[in-house]
Amino acid sequence: MNKIKLIFGFLVLCASITCTHAADTISANQILRYNETIVSPLETFELGFFNPGNSTNHYVGIWYKKISNRTVVWVANRNTPLTDTSSELTLTLQGVLVLRNTTTGYVVWSSGNSTTSSVRNPIGQLLDTGNFIIYEEGERINQEDPIWQSFDFLTDTLLPGMKHGWNLVTGTERSYTSWKSDDDPGFGEFSYWIDTRGYPQLILSEGREIKLRAGPWNGLGFTGTPNLSPNTFYNFTFVLNQREIYYQYNLIDTSVITRLVLQPSGRLERFFWIDSKQEWSLYWSRQNDLCDQYALCGPFGNCNIAKSPACECLKGFEPTSPDQWKITDWSQGCRHTIPIECKPGEGFNNYSDLKLPDTRESWYNQTMTLIECEKMCKRNCSCTAYTHSNKSGTGSGCLLWFGDLIDIKTIAENGDTLYIRMSPSELDSIANSKSSSAGRRVKVIVPVAFVVFTILTSMCLYYRFNVKKQQQQGTPRSGNEDLDLPLFGLPTILKATNNFSMTNKLGEGGFGPVYKGVLEDGKEIAVKRLAKTSTQGLHEFKNEVISISKLQHRNLVRLLGCCIEGDEVMLIYEYMPNKSLNSFIFSKTQSQLLDWNARYHIIIGIARGLLYLHQDSRLRIIHRDLKVSNILLDKDMNPKISDFGTARTFGGNQMAEKTNRVVGTYGYMAPEYAGNGIFSTKSDVYSFGVLVLEIVCGEKNREFIHKEHCNNLIGHAWGLHNEGRSLQVVAKCLGESINVSQSEVPLPPPKEPGFYVGISTEDTRQSSSSNNELSITMLIGR
Ligand SMILES: *[C@@H]1O[C@H](CO)[C@@H](O)[C@H](O)[C@H]1NC(C)=O
Ligand SMILES: *[C@@H]1O[C@H](CO)[C@@H](O)[C@H](O)[C@H]1NC(C)=O
Ligand SMILES: *[C@@H]1O[C@H](CO)[C@@H](O)[C@H](O)[C@H]1NC(C)=O
Ligand SMILES: *[C@@H]1O[C@H](CO)[C@@H](O)[C@H](O)[C@H]1NC(C)=O
Ligand SMILES: *[C@@H]1O[C@H](CO)[C@@H](O)[C@H](O)[C@H]1NC(C)=O
Ligand SMILES: *[C@@H]1O[C@H](CO)[C@@H](O)[C@H](O)[C@H]1NC(C)=O
Ligand SMILES: *[C@@H]1O[C@H](CO)[C@@H](O)[C@H](O)[C@H]1NC(C)=O
Ligand SMILES: *[C@@H]1O[C@H](CO)[C@@H](O)[C@H](O)[C@H]1NC(C)=O
Ligand SMILES: *[C@@H]1O[C@H](CO)[C@@H](O)[C@H](O)[C@H]1NC(C)=O
Ligand SMILES: *[C@@H]1O[C@H](CO)[C@@H](O)[C@H](O)[C@H]1NC(C)=O
Repeated sequence: MNKIKLIFGFLVLCASITCTHAADTISANQILRYNETIVSPLETFELGFFNPGNSTNHYVGIWYKKISNRTVVWVANRNTPLTDTSSELTLTLQGVLVLRNTTTGYVVWSSGNSTTSSVRNPIGQLLDTGNFIIYEEGERINQEDPIWQSFDFLTDTLLPGMKHGWNLVTGTERSYTSWKSDDDPGFGEFSYWIDTRGYPQLILSEGREIKLRAGPWNGLGFTGTPNLSPNTFYNFTFVLNQREIYYQYNLIDTSVITRLVLQPSGRLERFFWIDSKQEWSLYWSRQNDLCDQYALCGPFGNCNIAKSPACECLKGFEPTSPDQWKITDWSQGCRHTIPIECKPGEGFNNYSDLKLPDTRESWYNQTMTLIECEKMCKRNCSCTAYTHSNKSGTGSGCLLWFGDLIDIKTIAENGDTLYIRMSPSELDSIANSKSSSAGRRVKVIVPVAFVVFTILTSMCLYYRFNVKKQQQQGTPRSGNEDLDLPLFGLPTILKATNNFSMTNKLGEGGFGPVYKGVLEDGKEIAVKRLAKTSTQGLHEFKNEVISISKLQHRNLVRLLGCCIEGDEVMLIYEYMPNKSLNSFIFSKTQSQLLDWNARYHIIIGIARGLLYLHQDSRLRIIHRDLKVSNILLDKDMNPKISDFGTARTFGGNQMAEKTNRVVGTYGYMAPEYAGNGIFSTKSDVYSFGVLVLEIVCGEKNREFIHKEHCNNLIGHAWGLHNEGRSLQVVAKCLGESINVSQSEVPLPPPKEPGFYVGISTEDTRQSSSSNNELSITMLIGR
């Protein structure tokens, strides 16, 4: 009978059986006085008057019944403290809980007018969840539609089962606000709420300022709260539908006592009650770091706490105001290095391990797929980024951003992926665009050799389409100014090449004959006329095409444009008056023209071009057929790597690939490539090495003949190297011009080369056909 703390005036006479049941309820017109309380059935919670901390003010609240140190979880009259003990709490016949000053008769606090007009017989009950609920007596307790419940009016504590969010039907917001201090439960500075503009997101604000954006729900947790992980004590859920938006956690093990509280300091903390120690133990606390400071790095800036300074521009972006950025004023953020102009060819780069940006200017649909999402974003010029709204499982839903992307930070573990709109030239890689547009796992390697023709064809078709659409005329014309890839008309090319006259033919390239041409303005061009092919998969290669057209380096031969009409597909390159390096170094007379300095200059140029292909271009490109005849020389004898017919691109971090279709040229192929089909930047470097040897000694690797041994050039060089006579490898004609300091620098000792025995074995002799420079293709067994 001890549990009966609440004694209703007119129930004094009632039987004790009735009274035990009355302990957790209050009926209409009953009065709860200062030293009376209501206790939930299992004595978990208690409702009554209390003084917070050292305060002498009185409040009506709910606290844990069994916890000695009173821990208040809910307060009624937060902002209207009672100064004496004379007040009374009553439940009116209309179902309204009223706190009245008995001296004046004024209402100090009330639970508010009931939305239910026809209340007949209200009753208030304190449940073991800590919820005080007013409902129609005799009817089932319905937490979904009560007359009133304390769970709809959070104070600073989120208990298990409480909903933190919105009831969209009634328009009720359930958010929590810190106490002013431990002594004052009045509305403090901090509130934790869900912003429903755009895709709903959790915001912790201090006054009117956003202090912290916990972010939108990503299906597993709030994007900015990655350490909210599943555990054995409670599970959690986020509900987002037409009627409700809320976060809720529920106990799995109901014997534990836990609460999430927003402290007066603004800290969000979760405690568990440790009964043996009789104390609250801090289980989780929202750890704020510099990067949690809202929008610290400005639009398109990313905050990475592991970096110093913490703010950085995302890849493809640069500081809007470099001067201010330098002095750590990041407020202006970053902007696209190449502005977005909503032009065809734009796509998306993915950025992973991020906290998703502010969603106030966003749109969502929970049933769309990522592919639909990308399309939707692409269609709308103001859409700057997208991602799936639910990353749980394989990912679903669509979330689009409009305008600036604000408040992004790096989250190393379980961060989110964001797809940001980029101009065509900034697009990452084939792998990226393919995987997002086709939505399937793609092989990271795309054989450029196989597609280069298709790509360029598609590029031409693509621009032709655009040009047609724009009804532009005249040649050459720019298909898209942003892409710098002009389209030439067939008549222009016919005129330039004198109808592909034999006298204009420069030679035969990988895909067809090459002609010299002169445009009307006098500009010299080389026209590569391609064989017919299908236009299959054009669309898929669109982005790659754009990337390739953007491959620009002074040591790569430059693609000027293309021409496609009818069956004709042509690529137009800059004309190289000095043709190929081949004609210089292997010719007795011409080689005299190339002294050491010229050769050194050429070697450095090739190295630069190769470095660009391997490291500095957007795509990692393996040329696979680097040889003297593929090095063209401009009028100033600057070397330009040409013929990408056999090249392959590597995406992402891929370093090597194996093929069973080996293409290349004997004498230049690295052993692991020729033998096992493994190619990588290293196999290119091997070819480069052969090339350098050939350039410095003016001899072809495979045709090299020495009277003392039957090694090829590599073997010869290896022998000389081992005898400390490397310099003797250098062509005699170079004579005095040689600069020893340029040819001998400390390097790690080289390994013994493979394949250094010259033309002595049966199969090499076979393949050393009439045209020794021919690029060959051979199949090797798997
Ligand atoms: C509180 O209860 C005591 C007895 O337990 C009683 O004497 C006292 O008058 C009550 N005070 C008020 C304010 O109701
Ligand atoms: C109450 O007062 C004591 C002594 O002045 C102080 O140590 C304690 O922190 C105060 N408690 C609160 C909750 O303010
Ligand atoms: C009781 O709670 C107060 C405030 O929460 C705290 O300062 C005090 O240390 C607690 N006392 C015990 C015995 O846990
Ligand atoms: C009730 O009102 C009187 C008169 O305004 C005031 O003096 C008293 O402090 C009030 N009581 C409470 C509990 O607020
Ligand atoms: C409740 O309703 C009455 C009458 O409709 C109105 O005067 C009063 O201001 C309302 N109170 C609240 C708290 O909404
Ligand atoms: C959470 O756990 C409770 C109790 O085991 C269960 O009833 C509820 O369905 C769970 N909720 C979620 C979202 O998993
Ligand atoms: C969401 O997308 C699905 C599938 O595309 C569509 O059927 C539905 O109407 C969309 N819903 C809204 C609210 O746009
Ligand atoms: C693009 O999205 C914005 C924001 O949702 C919308 O106002 C606008 O109508 C959309 N434009 C198109 C063309 O769909
Ligand atoms: C999110 O994805 C999971 C796994 O596919 C699914 O069970 C859940 O219903 C989805 N949530 C929403 C809100 O669509
Ligand atoms: C992101 O892009 C990289 C290449 O830049 C790609 O390898 C990766 O698969 C992409 N990830 C997603 C989720 O699309």
